[in-house]
Amino acid sequence: MITKEDIGRFEVCPTPFYFYDLALLDRTVRRAKQAAEKHGYILHFAMKANAIDPVLNVMKRNGLGVDCVSGAEVSKALDIGFAAESVAFAGVGKSDEEIVQAIASDIFTINAESLEELEVIEELAAGLGKKTRIAVRLNPDVDANTHKYITTGLEENKFGISGWQIDDVIAFIRKSSHLQLTGLHFHIGSQIRDLEPFKNLCGRINLALQRFADAGLPIEHVNAGGGLGIDYDHPDDEKDPDFEKFFDVFNELLDLKPSQTLHFELGRSLVAHCADLIARTLYIKKGLKTNFMILDAGMTELIRPALYQAIHSIENLSKRGEEEVERYDVVGPVCESSDCFGKAMQLPLSERGDLIAIRSAGAYGESMASHYNLRSLRPSVYRD
Ligand code: LLP
Repeated sequence: MITKEDIGRFEVCPTPFYFYDLALLDRTVRRAKQAAEKHGYILHFAMKANAIDPVLNVMKRNGLGVDCVSGAEVSKALDIGFAAESVAFAGVGKSDEEIVQAIASDIFTINAESLEELEVIEELAAGLGKKTRIAVRLNPDVDANTHKYITTGLEENKFGISGWQIDDVIAFIRKSSHLQLTGLHFHIGSQIRDLEPFKNLCGRINLALQRFADAGLPIEHVNAGGGLGIDYDHPDDEKDPDFEKFFDVFNELLDLKPSQTLHFELGRSLVAHCADLIARTLYIKKGLKTNFMILDAGMTELIRPALYQAIHSIENLSKRGEEEVERYDVVGPVCESSDCFGKAMQLPLSERGDLIAIRSAGAYGESMASHYNLRSLRPSVYRD
């Protein structure tokens, strides 16, 4: 909830900027952790969702591990002080340099996404004279029913090793001398609010576990990925998302041995609601069919609407409680027609200089910001 005091602080800040409520983040992370710990599950934070220091520090303080998808993310996690054994490293295109760095840092697992990558890891580990812990990321061919750009677990997606290749993977790992298989990794997509796809995922995980057990390859841990979605229409609902319901699905449906641990790597569900993008109205431009509310924030600060047709809730902070409303296409200043936060949005009658909040922007907001048009973000504002 953005308070009157917050708005008072914003008045003197150059826009656009991100406003972070770190106390809310802490409460959300605790809620998730408590729900996970009820079943003995281990949480990692998918730092691609947000990699700023204050956010990572909250995760570290609450004892989460991290999920990284680049060598730079691995370095950042280690620099911030996450224990190497809590760092997982996934990604379909790891460079040799990134793999060497991960092997040398002795992280929790390198999650291999193809047979070809396994061959390279084996060769590089041999060069370093090391045996390295790996997990294999399997593509479970489960439809996540989400936007096509954030679906990752279908056979046609580039991620993970497909079912038809598992026998070759098992044969390769068996004869390798530098790979120590410890886990299986899955991730079916993002912004998944209906739990059905996760139920289907559990069925696929059980089959995969059986297959590796039959092959005599013991699995110590399963990483079920992230993907739990949030309610963008209700940015102030502190009960969103329902972590308990999410973890209950896995508790009910997964056949794990008592010695096997279950890991998750949540991104959006932990950080989305803890930040808002704060902008100012530059112009209210009259049109014949619609009025444009032109903001000083655009797709360079929050690309989700342009890329995934995402709709974030928008609030005019300067006109709170005012009754007269108008319809606006809320757009940014960038030279692209896709630079639009929402069409025909019903908002209070607005004017130049109003402070506007684009809500629930903590996940994939600042982390996906760009310098297109040589634009840059102003310093963030934090509430502890
Ligand atoms: N694990 C892996 C391997 C992933 O690729 C991702 C996200 C996650 C975990 C975390 O997923 P989450 O819990 O955040 O759904 N930029 C897009 C989302 C891209 C997700 C990429 N992978 C968006 O703004 O909607």
